Amino acid sequence: MDGMKTVNDQLGRGLRDLRISVTDRCNFRCCYCMPRDVFGTDFPFMNSAELLSFEEIVRVTKVFAGLGVEKLRLTGGEPLLRHGIEALVEQLAGIDGIEDVAMTTNGSLLAKKARSLRDAGLSRVTVSLDSLDAETFRTMSDVKIPVSRVLEGIAAAADAGLTPVKVNTVVKRGLNNGQGILDLARFGREHGYIVRFIEFMDVGATNGWRMDDVVPAAEIVEAINSEWPIEPVDPAYVGEVAARYRYVDGAGEVGMITSISQPFCGTCTRARLSAKGELYTCLFAGLGHDLRTPLRDGASDDEIEKRITGIWKGRTDRYSAQRTTATLGLPKVEMSYIGG
Ligand code: GTP
Ligand code: 5AD
Ligand code: SF4
Ligand code: SF4
Repeated sequence: MDGMKTVNDQLGRGLRDLRISVTDRCNFRCCYCMPRDVFGTDFPFMNSAELLSFEEIVRVTKVFAGLGVEKLRLTGGEPLLRHGIEALVEQLAGIDGIEDVAMTTNGSLLAKKARSLRDAGLSRVTVSLDSLDAETFRTMSDVKIPVSRVLEGIAAAADAGLTPVKVNTVVKRGLNNGQGILDLARFGREHGYIVRFIEFMDVGATNGWRMDDVVPAAEIVEAINSEWPIEPVDPAYVGEVAARYRYVDGAGEVGMITSISQPFCGTCTRARLSAKGELYTCLFAGLGHDLRTPLRDGASDDEIEKRITGIWKGRTDRYSAQRTTATLGLPKVEMSYIGG
């Protein structure tokens, strides 16, 4: 694009992806993300005046696009809980320089919304799904919404052309490892979905993370490989989060997200915007940088751009690469606040 600026952080990493959380609320209570005993009926979620308006999100996204951001991902909490989200998608998809607008969703409202999201210009969806087994699904998501609803959502997304459909599975030892992994892999193979197994991470401070609960990706690769041989494939783009594998028999691909066993901070070009308009430079950051105040206090686009550039230039985050037992106790933002 003409006049495109680029900005690098202290470790030479550019700013390429913006992940926008549109709400901190969710209709699920996944044990590794929003445990019900913490996120109960009296939990102080953001009120609507605190949320960035669509207009504010679009404005700040244009500034990011001017700094080299090409990929957007809408997240939450659960982004489909945000009223009228299609209107936001439409405006974001129309921004100069934006090539990809994806969404991470739990899928529960997707059967209803897949078509309108596609019509609005959404490129694709990634659906979180930890198990195909009704009982295990309920244990992990801690809601009454049945797994069949999510499966309908996934099918509707594929039908609507929100492809490639990816499925994110957080693996927690003793809950959904073992046969459950093979069942999900088979599901992906049969339908052409890209299933990615995610190592349970120490995000936030409420999910009771323990190293013993992490199933290293190597173990998952071995289990899948012994059923259906797989081989590594090059990343689709520099800094891709998931390590990709293809099925040797041609039945598509599967991915591993190895934040614990093989951190990928060296190529991390992701910025995150909270629903309140704070810029986070790492998933494990303790604090965000307030962009809403300048947005609402009459700052010009140039001033917003300077603020973002300054923050990114100073960035040194590489939490996963530095993870130790000592970092566990650091203050960290919750996943539902920043969207993963
Ligand atoms: P595409 O390649 O664009 O499809 O997206 P992606 O691979 O980044 O996938 P997605 O955004 O769905 O991320 C999948 C999961 O990886 C998230 O839910 C997080 O659990 C984890 N993840 C994503 N980005 C980061 C990151 O920067 N650091 C760490 N540690 N984990 C991440
Ligand atoms: N570890 C790994 N992944 C997580 N997610 C949420 N919490 C965690 C965690 N503790 C993932 C979900 C979803 C996305 C929003 O983040 O599976 O795909
Ligand atoms: Fe909701 Fe996604 Fe967190 Fe589960 S992982 S509680 S679906 S935001
Ligand atoms: Fe990026 Fe932070 Fe994740 Fe490392 S831990 S990949 S710096 S978000």
